[in-house]
Amino acid sequence: MSSKDQYKHEPSYEERRVTTGCCGCIWTPILTACGIFCCLIVIAIVILSVILGVNVNACGKLSQTVDINAVTPSVYTFDPNTFPNFNFISFNSILTKTGQIYVTQSNSTNDKNVTVSVRVAATKDETTSIKEENIDSTKKISLERADTFKGALAWIGYLSLPPRCILAKVEVVLPQTIPSVTTIDTDVNDIIFYANSVPYSSQINAKTVNGEIDVNNFAIGSLTLNTNNGGIKGSVSGIINELVATTDNGGIQLNVLVSSNATNPKIEITNSFSDIQLNFNSSFSGSYDVNTDFGNVNVVNPSSETINEDKKKSGKVGDKNGTLTVNTKNGNINITF
Ligand SMILES: *[C@@H]1O[C@H](CO)[C@@H](O)[C@H](O)[C@H]1NC(C)=O
Ligand SMILES: *[C@@H]1O[C@H](CO)[C@@H](O)[C@H](O)[C@H]1NC(C)=O
Ligand SMILES: *[C@@H]1O[C@H](CO)[C@@H](O)[C@H](O)[C@H]1NC(C)=O
Ligand SMILES: *[C@@H]1O[C@H](CO)[C@@H](O)[C@H](O)[C@H]1NC(C)=O
Ligand SMILES: *[C@@H]1O[C@H](CO)[C@@H](O)[C@H](O)[C@H]1NC(C)=O
Repeated sequence: MSSKDQYKHEPSYEERRVTTGCCGCIWTPILTACGIFCCLIVIAIVILSVILGVNVNACGKLSQTVDINAVTPSVYTFDPNTFPNFNFISFNSILTKTGQIYVTQSNSTNDKNVTVSVRVAATKDETTSIKEENIDSTKKISLERADTFKGALAWIGYLSLPPRCILAKVEVVLPQTIPSVTTIDTDVNDIIFYANSVPYSSQINAKTVNGEIDVNNFAIGSLTLNTNNGGIKGSVSGIINELVATTDNGGIQLNVLVSSNATNPKIEITNSFSDIQLNFNSSFSGSYDVNTDFGNVNVVNPSSETINEDKKKSGKVGDKNGTLTVNTKNGNINITF
């Protein structure tokens, strides 16, 4: 036996009882404090939710109560060769009701510049201002409020009472000739493309964080559509090189016309959590590879199939070199060639 073992002291019943009892005296106030703390947190969450609800409701009503078309726009004009990137930011200005960016094409061959008209309506419009900045090749236009949190703390504005909402309507008129790559980038706004009478052969990249993207018969050589939170839908024509549509949260529904000039078109559609529907009206030619993790894949009119499973289909349509990849995690994919 070592000396350590010799002196090892087993606690008596009495000692154990006291220890447990003492644990009780320590734990009861801690649990009580925890309970009160939890209660306070729940109350705080309820209060914040009510405020948020009031705010979202007031901001949603803004588009019904204000005629934004009656607002005099602020107009900005710039050369797209100097500023191929257009950035419209409004989240910083607090509880911006998701506004819209409308993209159209000028009907005049004389127009060489981009024209951006910004209409803004707000619950307290005296504090709203529009800021224009040139950052390298980016024309940045931001909505600003004078007295609110900014940047990383902007979300606190969602909790302000009375509600502070801004509604934005932005019209972007593109000239008939644009740079080889043009970018339209925004944070909490929808982007809507209208039909252009002169098809573009260049590329447009459109990106929003929290908004939908609608494409109404827009004709463009390459198009990249990206939103984190919102659907993508409409008709795209004239695709020569590449069409990319990506969303994390929202359906994708597109009619796509690939240009007859396209030799090697690449089409990539990705959606994490919803359905994807693509119609090609016989215009796509090449191989396809379509996958979903949870859902069904349905491909109509392929020329040949190499894989034909519920969740994965691949094969060819026509005899050209195009590639089509379509992926979603949680939804059905329907494709008609
Ligand atoms: C285009 O915009 C720039 C900058 O605002 C201006 O200097 C130029 O005159 C405009 N060009 C045309 C053709 O309107
Ligand atoms: C160009 O003309 C079409 C058809 O008349 C019209 O719908 C569209 O609004 C016009 N575009 C612009 C930028 O004025
Ligand atoms: C493709 O066909 C559908 C239905 O037949 C039609 O609604 C759609 O406009 C067509 N899309 C294009 C890009 O022509
Ligand atoms: C195909 O290319 C020719 C010349 O390269 C052009 O004139 C024509 O507009 C293009 N057609 C389409 C549908 O893009
Ligand atoms: C497709 O690719 C093959 C070789 O990879 C090439 O010989 C052929 O010309 C291409 N066809 C088209 C239409 O690009």
